[in-house]
Amino acid sequence: MPRAKPHHTQREQWATRIGLVFAMAGNAVGLGNFLRFPVQCAQNGGGAFMIPYFVAFLLLGIPLMWIEWGIGRFGGKYGHGTTPGMFHYLWQHPLSKYLGAIGMAIPFGLVVYYTYIESWTLAYSFFSLTGKYAGIQTREGMAQFLTAYQGGTQNEYFSNIGTAYLFFVITLALNFWILSRGLVRGIEQISKVALPLLFVFGLILVVRVFSIGAPDPAYPERTVLSGLAFIWNPDFRTLTDSRVWVAAAGQIFFTLSVGFGAIQTYASYMSKRDDIVTSGLATASTNEFAEVVIGGSIAIPVAVAFFGLQATQDVAQGGAFNLGFFAMPIIFQRMPGAEFFGTIWFLLLFLAGITSSVAMAQPLMAFLQEEFHMRRQTAAVLVGGLAFFLMQPVIFFLPYGFLDEMDFWIGTMGLVVFAIIEVVLFVWVFGSRKAWKEICAGSDIRLPRIFYFVIKYVTPFYLFVLLGFWLIQDGWSVLTMSHVPKENYIYIWFARFLLTGILLLMILLVRIAWQRKHVIAQKVPK
Ligand code: ALA
Repeated sequence: MPRAKPHHTQREQWATRIGLVFAMAGNAVGLGNFLRFPVQCAQNGGGAFMIPYFVAFLLLGIPLMWIEWGIGRFGGKYGHGTTPGMFHYLWQHPLSKYLGAIGMAIPFGLVVYYTYIESWTLAYSFFSLTGKYAGIQTREGMAQFLTAYQGGTQNEYFSNIGTAYLFFVITLALNFWILSRGLVRGIEQISKVALPLLFVFGLILVVRVFSIGAPDPAYPERTVLSGLAFIWNPDFRTLTDSRVWVAAAGQIFFTLSVGFGAIQTYASYMSKRDDIVTSGLATASTNEFAEVVIGGSIAIPVAVAFFGLQATQDVAQGGAFNLGFFAMPIIFQRMPGAEFFGTIWFLLLFLAGITSSVAMAQPLMAFLQEEFHMRRQTAAVLVGGLAFFLMQPVIFFLPYGFLDEMDFWIGTMGLVVFAIIEVVLFVWVFGSRKAWKEICAGSDIRLPRIFYFVIKYVTPFYLFVLLGFWLIQDGWSVLTMSHVPKENYIYIWFARFLLTGILLLMILLVRIAWQRKHVIAQKVPK
């Protein structure tokens, strides 16, 4: 592809700066804030987790945020909304665009399983409203309810997977309907409604939780405050445990949506004079407020108040859904207004989820529109159709660890690997001075020079150490499937096959797009 000067084609742009921040915050605030964070926090010792968490926020999260906004706005100037085109201009090498293909495979791969979980939250808000699970009094009962809903076993609530499938189709259709409306009328508008609404829901829930006191007279020590103390009393002893550091960094990646490839696409729709430093900071802070203040004040404190600290930690050990889908509905049922609080809890999750999933689908949409000159509606149908097709094994093989396998390779390992690639390309190959200039251009405030060194040395170093620990701790056992029952091997291999297929498809699309450009460039003399 010939080197082009920045040009101003008819690319879409955010209508307002506040709209941009809302959309970016909507991208970040997701299921991770309200389901994943409390569970990670409880699994990793509460207060002990928060120190590595904030260190990772400062040294990984915020710098990566600025880096991704910088790469995105830079690529947008050249008419590229996805990382293949962006990387092409960062590093003039035939390989760069293929490295960029990873930045399309990751967000699209995420769409394939994230949207399914998102559809459960829509279904559960409906079930809460209609009192479908109202008779269930135990967490075990709620666990069976979810299993039956997912098509695992039949019970009096669900005889097959039909209901789950229906909500999945509705959720997917909603996502791609929003995307087909475009950046401003679709994404920006939905974010401007969904984000404030989810904050209102969150604050209502926080107020409710704080007014509980000690719900069980037999256990006066079980209070909301003891739940909060668990999160906020720092425990320095576990700081030497590398697992806690790795988990904290993983949470920062997931919650801020860094290493996804999705922030770059959103940032590409900024004008070249738009500020990155303050807007990026505003987005990260909004996400942290949603996660730590709201997310941290709902599930754990209320679970500690009702079940006690030990039981809450046991629930959390069971994974991200135990707290959100089993424990929370039981808790709400013990309160007056169970339907109302259950509904807004799950609606909050749904709104958080949908503003993130549209952001994950947008890179592939943008690629088809820009590199293949496809109409937005056609791209929405194609990307939505492909996602629908690939989601079938996620839905039907869920009990065999299919989704978890995808989540490990994409949502854990993939993010760190891609972050390393983009940091090396932007800061080291493109050049740290130029990268710094890109980030600071148009800024409302002067970014302290210390961050130049953080971005150049500390963040890349942190990322490599993280990857190393990950490989040592989890990589080998996941790779060799040491925790997988033998009868599930086939499903895990299928998940890996699917992941490889997604990556190869993106590489192929990039190749075709570049070949076409080459032909066009030859035909149209300048
Ligand atoms: N950042 C999004 C979340 O937290 C993906 O769910």
